Amino acid sequence: MCGIMGYIGAKEASQILIDGLEKLEYRGYDSAGVAILNEGQIQVRKFKGRLSVLKENIEQHPVEGNIGIGHTRWATHGEPSDINSHPHKSSDNKISVVHNGIIENYIEVKEELQSLGYNFISDTDTEVISHLLDYYYNGDILDAVKKVINKIEGAYALGIVHADNPDMLIAVKKDSPLIVGIGEGENFIASDIPAVLKHTRKVYILESGEMAIVKKDSISLMKTDGTPVTKEVFNVTWDIEAAEKGGYEHFMLKEIYEQPKAIKDTLSPRINSNGEIKLDSLNISDDYVKNTKRIYIIACGTAYHAGLIGKDMLERYARIPTIVDVASEFRYGEPFIDSDTLVIVVSQSGETADTLAALRLAKEKGARVLAITNVVGSSIARESDDVLYTWAGPEIAVASTKAYTTQILALTLLALDIAIKNKSITHEDMDFIIKNLSHLSEKIEEILLNTENIKSIAERIHSSQSIFYIGRGIDYDVAREGSLKLKEISYIHSESIAAGELKHGTLALIEEGTPVIALVTQDRLYDKMLSNIKEVKARGAYVIAVAKKENSEIEKSADKVIYIPDVIDEITPALSIVPLQLLSYYVAYKRGCDIDKPKNLAKSVTVE
Ligand code: G6P
Repeated sequence: MCGIMGYIGAKEASQILIDGLEKLEYRGYDSAGVAILNEGQIQVRKFKGRLSVLKENIEQHPVEGNIGIGHTRWATHGEPSDINSHPHKSSDNKISVVHNGIIENYIEVKEELQSLGYNFISDTDTEVISHLLDYYYNGDILDAVKKVINKIEGAYALGIVHADNPDMLIAVKKDSPLIVGIGEGENFIASDIPAVLKHTRKVYILESGEMAIVKKDSISLMKTDGTPVTKEVFNVTWDIEAAEKGGYEHFMLKEIYEQPKAIKDTLSPRINSNGEIKLDSLNISDDYVKNTKRIYIIACGTAYHAGLIGKDMLERYARIPTIVDVASEFRYGEPFIDSDTLVIVVSQSGETADTLAALRLAKEKGARVLAITNVVGSSIARESDDVLYTWAGPEIAVASTKAYTTQILALTLLALDIAIKNKSITHEDMDFIIKNLSHLSEKIEEILLNTENIKSIAERIHSSQSIFYIGRGIDYDVAREGSLKLKEISYIHSESIAAGELKHGTLALIEEGTPVIALVTQDRLYDKMLSNIKEVKARGAYVIAVAKKENSEIEKSADKVIYIPDVIDEITPALSIVPLQLLSYYVAYKRGCDIDKPKNLAKSVTVE
């Protein structure tokens, strides 16, 4: 959602804040602002719109000062507007606050403050914090912060500056992510590591219920009750270029092309010298597996789609009944969870609010929770019993690509590991699958080398009103992700349908020229899919098939074919999604869409 950046040091804060916020824009981008403290005065600049609006304003009318906080906002309470943008301040202009998260009891607190004479100018929940700080401040800002924390309920990462304490930034964290960047003669706070990487590789990752007093030359970490905390410095090993575009026009394209490496990085450390799967980070014993009656996979968005493939893998190899649910449904449902249930949560960011809430619910009900996530030290990673990381590197584009393929791989490895423990797979079958998986990376590279066909199909379909995706089995799961990718970034209406269901309704929508993308990669379902292709062709559809090279006779049935390399059926999803990602990208490109930052969407959804 929102992005927070804070700076204290000897340099001009405004420039550093804007630089940092640029790296956080993916978190939310309907408005942006900074508050700079200089000679006992706080100057706030904040505007609705892109960060460039704020940047231009500051370039034209510089604001001087060496300490400040900045924010990019993705609106929750109150429409995007200059007034609702952060930072928010106290009426006397002495306290300024940036906030990511939601204050759940803000209405009640607001009414209380109003009855005490406080005047609110925005519609945000955040404004209660600046007024509460003013209310509680009695010469000791830390004491005031503690009292505010006792008063407010909800999720928050806060950055605070106070004109009477011009030597410090205060950072507070509960549930929403926040880190402290450790510099020399300067320090930083931020929602995420890329914002500080230009300045330092050393960071502290704050836990819920912790705060930091950040000065130019020191950082004090403590619990929000004031108890000191000692913490290891986290050394960031990936490069700043890894978080930048590296020559590609968009992060999404860069991330699509990073998939061979992401797959290799996720797979290699998990295969030992004997060619066996070794998931060292997991503590799952053979006995535990034998007693596991069911598995739930819980996730949102693209991670949910990866979970659908995971279900197939777990049931196919491990023979344990598996239910996949979206986190926002699961958390308010009546799931069959007990100590015999393994819950797998899948989340690229590790911070998605619904997934985190589902994780907590599952733990409460006694389940063991295993996380598959891409972000080390994320809330989901920390709160789970076991973590299996996808080593995809930072994913910046809102539309998830490399996270999806690595999630599929991680789920497959997990299913195989559980299958061995459950004795539901032979070592020969296992070796065969691992051998196939070890070529996955080069097979993806093969697809990425030849994109002309995909570009020409994008040219043909980019002005369509509606595009349909069909498939059976795991092809249907991939169809769902392909369709999501298209609608997210191109804004074309799209649906995915289990091919056998077409005749029960969706067929009515097929007209002359309607593009239908048919996934036909599963040998045992090939003939069934051919019949479905005939069904839509008979109604005028323009059919684009995604098929294995060995099935070239599909050219007789489809208008266009996108080939993927020949592989065993169960590992096709990590391949067949790649041309669909590219197709969505080129369609969106032709339509002039803002590919990395699609309208109305955010990368990391840290509120319900
Ligand atoms: C947002 C993103 C999606 C992502 C989903 C779940 O909607 O735009 O790309 O799949 O959140 O995020 P997570 O970080 O939990 O995988």
